[in-house]
Amino acid sequence: MIKLNMLSYSVNHSGGILNILKDVNWNLAKGSTASVTGPSGSGKTSLLSIIAGLERATAGDIKVAGVDLAGLDENGLTRLRRENIGIVFQDFHLIDAISAWQNVALPLDFSGKSQTQEQAKNMLERVGLSHRLNHRPTELSGGERQRVAIARAFVTKPNLILADEPTGNLDLETSKMVMDLLFEMVAEWQATFVMVTHDKELAAKTHKTFHMQDGRLDVEG
Ligand SMILES: Nc1ncnc2c1ncn2[C@@H]1O[C@H](COP(=O)(O)OP(=O)(O)OP(=O)(O)O)[C@@H](O)[C@H]1O
Ligand SMILES: [Mg+2]
Repeated sequence: MIKLNMLSYSVNHSGGILNILKDVNWNLAKGSTASVTGPSGSGKTSLLSIIAGLERATAGDIKVAGVDLAGLDENGLTRLRRENIGIVFQDFHLIDAISAWQNVALPLDFSGKSQTQEQAKNMLERVGLSHRLNHRPTELSGGERQRVAIARAFVTKPNLILADEPTGNLDLETSKMVMDLLFEMVAEWQATFVMVTHDKELAAKTHKTFHMQDGRLDVEG
């Protein structure tokens, strides 16, 4: 599902060139689950952004769902992301001006799907929020917001789910509930799952754990 070969990512910034990812090799099979731990600033979010096609690698090869990302223009990357990838962020990334169900319907609307309202509502029911369909994100608790974000990530039935510190802004009990839900959904949808987390216990729940250190990725188990 994910194939990285000598992938590097550098940015030009005020002080010169910053090498964020260095010669990363990674092979993640379809249907497997993986976590990435590592210190702040080591490059974890950058790695997910490149896999999601939100940023471009500066060297090396990257294939996601069998597609070589270097061969895609911006529209191609957007299409690949819409069709294959669901993303869950630490700070939810919901749109505050619209309701919970409208947030969940958005990826379906973008893909030109029909009956998006019905699908969005079914998805919110799946994550236990059928009583909060018309609430705006600002009217929801942190755990509820993340459940809306999870519903949005899964609503297009993507085969790859990326999660960046999905419970980073939640208390312990809510984190557990959200993570249980996330793992349940990954299993139910047979999605490939990549999660960035600081939590070693959480990381141990995935098939494989990786460690990022200063832009380099190592297997842990
Ligand atoms: N566009 C950019 N311009 C300059 N520096 C950047 C840019 N993007 C990321 N960086 C730097 O690259 C490093 C890696 O960033 P990244 O967000 O991937 O780290 P991270 O491992 O996710 O950290 P955290 O655990 O704190 O979220 C950081 O030092 C960051 O400041
Ligand atoms: Mg990060």
